[in-house]
Amino acid sequence: MKILLIGSGGREHSIAWRLKKTPGVTLISAPGSSALATLGEVRPIAVDDVKALTALAKDLKPDLTIIGPELPLVLGLADSIRSLGLPVFGPSAEAAKIEGSKVFAKDFMVRHNLPTASYAVFYDPTEARQYLKDSSYPVVIKADGLASGKGVAVCGKLSTALEALNDISSLETANRIIVEEYLAGEEVSFFVLTDGTNILPLPSAQDHKAVYDGDRGPNTGGMGAFSPAPLVNDSLSELIMDTIIKPTVEGLKVEGTPFCGLLYAGLMITLSGPKILEFNARFGDPETQVLMPRLKGDLANTLLLAATGRLNEASLEWDPRFAACVVMCSEGYPGAFRQGDVISGLKKVASNESVLIFESGVTREPRKNIIDGTEQWVETAITHGGRVLGVTALGDDLETALKISYQAASNISWSGVHYRRDIGAKALNRASLYQK
Ligand code: AMP
Ligand code: GLY
Repeated sequence: MKILLIGSGGREHSIAWRLKKTPGVTLISAPGSSALATLGEVRPIAVDDVKALTALAKDLKPDLTIIGPELPLVLGLADSIRSLGLPVFGPSAEAAKIEGSKVFAKDFMVRHNLPTASYAVFYDPTEARQYLKDSSYPVVIKADGLASGKGVAVCGKLSTALEALNDISSLETANRIIVEEYLAGEEVSFFVLTDGTNILPLPSAQDHKAVYDGDRGPNTGGMGAFSPAPLVNDSLSELIMDTIIKPTVEGLKVEGTPFCGLLYAGLMITLSGPKILEFNARFGDPETQVLMPRLKGDLANTLLLAATGRLNEASLEWDPRFAACVVMCSEGYPGAFRQGDVISGLKKVASNESVLIFESGVTREPRKNIIDGTEQWVETAITHGGRVLGVTALGDDLETALKISYQAASNISWSGVHYRRDIGAKALNRASLYQK
């Protein structure tokens, strides 16, 4: 099967790694990365260049196109490749609005009676400022459009909220601002594959959004993940399917925008049940980096079945072990970050079979090195992004998976490297409470 994979991050690296386990799969990635180049061909076309990517699909005629990131989905790449008569895993621009516009998503939730935080929408920052002055705290402020997880601020008091409002209003995508009720609880990422009608749930996962330990600091794209999430037992999973996932898939279909692809519900598990924080229209990053190593069976064919309306024929099996991923970042991320630093330790870790490195922001360049006393040009891994790489490991329990990931992460370094030291800590603490 010839597959065109759009994207270049750790999510796409893990999907590509899994796809290549199916015999006969050939892969072309765009724009790809140095890691993806080890798994197939790469074509350096930016993810927002819908015209060039469509031309590439027309030329290659892939059996399946998989669209990784949200931006090309929101820009209509799935529609334009589908209009060539080619199967695509990824929703139409209209269905991807569920991620692309938070105002659309909140209004959709209200229309379909889905559980979520109460909210108010503002077109004018002055009105939002007044509303914040009259609010009780904490509150959550969100920009309407795509912001790579960075257009949201949880604010404990008025002064922080006013500052956050200024920052968020200055984002390009913030033509509308949402002020939302704060939901207390634990966050869970719930993924399903759907062809618009049939639904295949994937195992649960938890991400860690804040940049620093203890969930402190600004939100990021995600600093680490594990799967399964022990919090999501069978009955909670059933409740999420019945009260959130099924009505969402049905609602999108009824509104004439059926969703074909991966539907990601970002949930807060509150004392009064699961509530929706957000929807995403694609695989999560870094959650995918803990799902792919647990996936058994044929990913390529399953995604093709989803893309062609036959997901009812699909089934997937999962490794019962836990997977954990620690994301290593550049200094400064999620703000302006440094890049171009030499990464050391990758080779040593790569030789450890129980560890997988999925690269998000790594490039390879020839650099001068002294080998056996002589100066030589050597291909060298260099940081090239905010999130640089994720270190994933499997273990019989969460503690073991985390231990192996952290052990491997401690062998990788570059100037200014930062990663959270408490991925999975909450789940481990909860487990130890139950054991007492
Ligand atoms: P979103 O992009 O809407 O998922 O928001 C990013 C992150 O902000 C979420 O993953 C949560 O950590 C946090 N967040 C968003 N909305 C709320 C809320 N209503 N209550 C508490 N935390 C929230
Ligand atoms: N891990 C959060 C996201 O993919 O949006």
